[in-house]
Amino acid sequence: MMAIDIFSQMPSQLPEQYRILSSEELDERIVRAKEILGKDLVILGHHYQRDDVIQYADFRGDSLKLSRVGAEQKEAKYIIFCGVHFMAETADTLAQKEQIVILPDLKAGCSMADMADIEDVEESWEVLQDEFGDTIIPVTYVNSTAAIKAFVGRHGGTTCTSSNAREVLAWAFQQKKRILFLPDQHLGRNTAYKMGIPLEQMVIWSPGSGELEEVNCELGEVQMILWKGYCSVHQKFTPEQVYRVRERDPEMKVIVHPECSHEVVRLADCDGSTDYIIKMIAAAPAGSKWAVGTEVNLVQRLAQEHPEQHIELLSTTMCPCLTMNRIDRPHLLWTLESILDGNPINQIEVNDETIYWSKKALDRMMAVS
Ligand code: 13P
Ligand code: SF4
Repeated sequence: MMAIDIFSQMPSQLPEQYRILSSEELDERIVRAKEILGKDLVILGHHYQRDDVIQYADFRGDSLKLSRVGAEQKEAKYIIFCGVHFMAETADTLAQKEQIVILPDLKAGCSMADMADIEDVEESWEVLQDEFGDTIIPVTYVNSTAAIKAFVGRHGGTTCTSSNAREVLAWAFQQKKRILFLPDQHLGRNTAYKMGIPLEQMVIWSPGSGELEEVNCELGEVQMILWKGYCSVHQKFTPEQVYRVRERDPEMKVIVHPECSHEVVRLADCDGSTDYIIKMIAAAPAGSKWAVGTEVNLVQRLAQEHPEQHIELLSTTMCPCLTMNRIDRPHLLWTLESILDGNPINQIEVNDETIYWSKKALDRMMAVS
């Protein structure tokens, strides 16, 4: 809690008057508010947002692109982030001091980011320092709280996204012999494996038990210490789904996000960030067939945008990111009209000390990617 103002943590209720608006009225009032605010406002939208929300984004992208674009919007007084909490925190960290960053629904968190609690990480670091000495550099996936990014920044480490994880890990290995990778074990494992690090030299750190798990080598040989976190959306994709899709149609290509398990990523034809998935499909010839292992909103949008290809979700059950989906038009309109009323709500404010250290971590990432 030290990192973020208590204010920004408080859930706020969507007023009744916004719940009962018709679809037409929502669209009309959002368009009008955007027009009035003009250049004072920028709306950023992550690829996983629903269609009816992403249509209002001035910029859409993956987390790396949105971090960069957000930081470039120096003219805007207000940045509305249609994404999840950690993304809005990153935007606030990189924004000008006077800019106001808003998350339309404060309950739009990320379950993976919540798996690395700052107190657990501080405690674990002490234990790992005793075990391994000063040989570890911490690297956190941007899907983490600002407090974790600041922790990493204070200890000489950096952040990464799913687009640049490989370059970032290569840089980190030039600094220290081993990496503590937070909070997504899968992105850490998948990236390190592609860099040639054997699975036996990767261990899991379980904050629950306070112990190393899956230790299959001498401790001195450990290169990756993977925090035991995961994305509940991407963990739903399984090797059986890959086998089934290929059995049904051997021409089907499987493309997945690296937050999927190692088994799934190894079986897939290719893997990469949301931006990578979009670009791969856009560049594929007509008639290509894809089973895509990532959030369902993006997969459905890809299918609509590329009718010349066959695109389906890898899983037969829906895989929505429920927290991303909390951002809807009523919440977007509510925040827009609160700005017009001169009393912006749902502001995300990271405190100065946390900004200072997390910015160090983010700047190191930007420098290597
Ligand atoms: P990208 O970095 O690919 O945008 O992914 C972010 C995310 O939250 C995926 O679950
Ligand atoms: Fe977090 Fe997973 Fe949702 Fe991405 S898809 S925001 S990692 S819960």
